[in-house]
Amino acid sequence: MFKNNALKLMAILFLIAALSIFIFVTRHTQYHYHSVYREFYFVPLILAAFWFGLRGTLLAAGVITLFYLAFIGFFWQGLSVEKINTFIEIIFLNVVALILGILREREYREHRRTQKMEHLAVIGKTVSGIAHDMKIPLVAIAGFSRRILKKLGEDDPHREKLTIIYQEAQRLENMVRDMLDYARPLNLYRSREDVNQIIQESINIVKEVAGKKQITIKEKLFPEMPPAELDPMRIKQVFINLLTNAIQASPFGEPVLVRSSVKGEKIVIDVTDHGRGLTADQKENIFTPFFTTKKEGVGLGLTMVKNIVSAHGGEVQFFDNPPPETGVTFRVILPKDSRVLSPSIKK
Ligand SMILES: Nc1ncnc2c1ncn2[C@@H]1O[C@H](COP(=O)(O)OP(=O)(O)OP(=O)(O)O)[C@@H](O)[C@H]1O
Ligand SMILES: [Mg+2]
Repeated sequence: MFKNNALKLMAILFLIAALSIFIFVTRHTQYHYHSVYREFYFVPLILAAFWFGLRGTLLAAGVITLFYLAFIGFFWQGLSVEKINTFIEIIFLNVVALILGILREREYREHRRTQKMEHLAVIGKTVSGIAHDMKIPLVAIAGFSRRILKKLGEDDPHREKLTIIYQEAQRLENMVRDMLDYARPLNLYRSREDVNQIIQESINIVKEVAGKKQITIKEKLFPEMPPAELDPMRIKQVFINLLTNAIQASPFGEPVLVRSSVKGEKIVIDVTDHGRGLTADQKENIFTPFFTTKKEGVGLGLTMVKNIVSAHGGEVQFFDNPPPETGVTFRVILPKDSRVLSPSIKK
């Protein structure tokens, strides 16, 4: 089988070119042969659909159509029944190309989705195994180093090194906690809550980190926010993750904006930053577990955001801020009252 796309493309073009040459060199009076050759055009078309999806099929159909129109133009002697027949065949070929391409594209997307789900299941299992085994030694390292630190004098020569051990162990502990959190089933403990209050509590938590970059967090909260049935700890986790990402993405001194509003039956929360925004690669992968572009990132923040919001029957969206503004807005949409949902939803 062919190994790469260039070879596949060459094979398709070669087939189209070979068939076209056959048609050109066959005298146009031997019309019945042309008809047979034209049927063979479906071979490169099917290959293009199989290898390159919709775009490839349409491209192949376009090249075939051009060849054939050139042929008709070259031997043009006025309109005849055969010519009309040929035109109809060309239209038919393009319609078949479109259908083939769409079907192939759909099948490919479904295949990717199943593959991704299987992949995520394997990741989940592996992560929980590793994180579980790492947890106990890390708790011991962080705990003992903290105890020894307390006993060391301020000017002890080992203090600096031990502080690093303690901080790094703590960082690993946090990572392990995130990994276990991701691998565990997501149980929700719902109560009637004010989303605005949860937003404010989350802002208070990240304020200190924001202050280090002189970032202020501006709020524009909907004044008459209706209560919602949700798990306050989990929703706080959502806002903290989004705010942390926004702060990390923001340039020094650039404020982050949090807005809440109500649209029909939905509560909408927007977190806007004015950082560099998202590249195409980031847009494609930000919800994939362990996707990170940060030196010290785990890549589970947005995965958890999505899992938690989905478990509440909501949705997470993101979009570029309208130019000339830079940066990105993450939007969380929550149902006003999701009591109809099961109180404990598993991922
Ligand atoms: N507001 C943002 N602006 C620009 N890029 C962002 C923003 N939010 C997320 N990203 C991109 O999405 C990636 C994944 O984000 P996510 O929160 O899942 O993981 P992380 O922040 O890298 O690590 P952590 O697990 O510590 O949260 C980030 O590494 C970054 O590339
Ligand atoms: Mg993050």
